[in-house]
Amino acid sequence: MDLRGLVLLVAILIVEVVTAANGNLVFSVERRKTTLTAIKAHDARRRGRFLSAVDLNLGGNGIPTENGLYYTKLGLGSPPKDYYVQVDTGSDILWVNCVECLRCPKKSDISGIDLTLYDPKGSSTSKLVSCEEDFCFSTYDGPLPGCGSGKPCPYNIGYGDGSATSGYYVKDYLTFNRVNGNLHTVPQNSSIIFGCGNVQSGMLGTSSDEALDGILGFGQANSSVLSQLAASGKVKRVFSHCLDNIRGGGIFAIGEVVEPKVSTTPLVPKMSHYNVVLKNIEVDSDILQLPSDIFDSGNGKGTVIDSGTTLAYLPGIVYDELISKVLARQPGMKLYLVDQQFSCFQYVGNVDHGFPVVKLHFEDSLTLTVHPHDYLFKYKDGANWWCIGWQKNVVQSKNGKDMTLLGDLVLSNKLVIYDLESMAIGWTDYNCSSSIKVKDEAGVVHTVGAHNLSSASAILIGRILTFFLLLTAMLNS
Ligand SMILES: *[C@@H]1O[C@H](CO)[C@@H](O)[C@H](O)[C@H]1NC(C)=O
Ligand SMILES: *[C@@H]1O[C@H](CO)[C@@H](O)[C@H](O)[C@H]1NC(C)=O
Ligand SMILES: *[C@@H]1O[C@H](CO)[C@@H](O)[C@H](O)[C@H]1NC(C)=O
Repeated sequence: MDLRGLVLLVAILIVEVVTAANGNLVFSVERRKTTLTAIKAHDARRRGRFLSAVDLNLGGNGIPTENGLYYTKLGLGSPPKDYYVQVDTGSDILWVNCVECLRCPKKSDISGIDLTLYDPKGSSTSKLVSCEEDFCFSTYDGPLPGCGSGKPCPYNIGYGDGSATSGYYVKDYLTFNRVNGNLHTVPQNSSIIFGCGNVQSGMLGTSSDEALDGILGFGQANSSVLSQLAASGKVKRVFSHCLDNIRGGGIFAIGEVVEPKVSTTPLVPKMSHYNVVLKNIEVDSDILQLPSDIFDSGNGKGTVIDSGTTLAYLPGIVYDELISKVLARQPGMKLYLVDQQFSCFQYVGNVDHGFPVVKLHFEDSLTLTVHPHDYLFKYKDGANWWCIGWQKNVVQSKNGKDMTLLGDLVLSNKLVIYDLESMAIGWTDYNCSSSIKVKDEAGVVHTVGAHNLSSASAILIGRILTFFLLLTAMLNS
């Protein structure tokens, strides 16, 4: 052995001694950490599952005069093709426009989005879901009349805005982004059942305005993608979104959020939507004087949290009371009815100084703070035209009472978490262009960042014209 070799050997020995010495100190901690992780991983495997966190890339924004919706991109079929679908916590299935559709959009005005029709014959793994399968049986709570061998399992969904989709269920591979590092994902797939949409109507029909390939329902029902992924052991039924209506896009992740910390309010059990208990509304430190049962959650009432709705809808009495308080600091300001639906006005200056903060108080002391820049939206850049995002609800629940529906208007710029394992929902003010920390079932924490799939500003042009054509004076109350 020459001198160089000896030096090297000594060096190696020294390194080893140092490692061993340090190792003793670090060892117990290291070991406990790996052991805990290993136990959890083992438990997860023993339960036949290794649950991962999932990163859904978001695009769009909640501005009514622009997209008015948020969407994500996912892969379907073999080989996977990309589909752009609206994310909607107010419905329960994933469906996409199908190749044989009788009525569906063929192109979209959202820049950067090319629509793709799902072709069962173009995917080697596509399978028709027959009406005899368990999925169909449980979706319809029993056998379908006239069901026979090899017959399809149909679906038919109507949305709150009057639009609808119908078609039949297929089973194929969904490709999504599994989080495997900080701001890093790898593709993973899972076989899921979704709707092949044949006839779309209303906003989902032929209009290319904000046309997308379909809708990804993030509801609680067993038919949702979230429930299907959870049932096959891929994920936990916990997800969160941070919708960025300043820059567009935002964060959407499946998995337990460990940062930021978020307080929650219980979800009303056995409801088809995400219902929470709204106690009262505070404007400028005053609690609105309202009938005590106005937000009563019994009898199918309550307040629905719905990311698939752009604005926020309140019962008539609540709306009138709220708007008079919101406008109280601007006596004599003239309101105009725009596009036959929005109450708008001209205002010069910072709206956060001229209008009050609105606070919605929920069960378990959870508060939703809505700033003027959230509930007022600008109609045309630079023209000082503002419109009120709060809307009077005309949709009634089954017992004939007005529902309260909170959409992107009040959910944007907040991290909202949905924990279906513990039946709770929560939120906190958050910068949706930043990132969150999500833990997978093995206990590993990863950073999940914001995305913005596409920016769409070209849409505005056509709308501004409509705005001035429909501008009609409305009496100020
Ligand atoms: C699904 O994932 C497996 C394993 O990574 C891979 O072999 C297969 O090709 C994937 N299938 C599709 C349709 O992407
Ligand atoms: C949904 O799935 C769960 C777990 O698989 C099952 O226990 C439950 O009965 C299902 N619910 C319905 C309404 O089918
Ligand atoms: C939000 O986060 C982004 C990305 O980290 C950062 O560039 C931006 O300045 C932040 N905005 C605010 C208001 O803090």
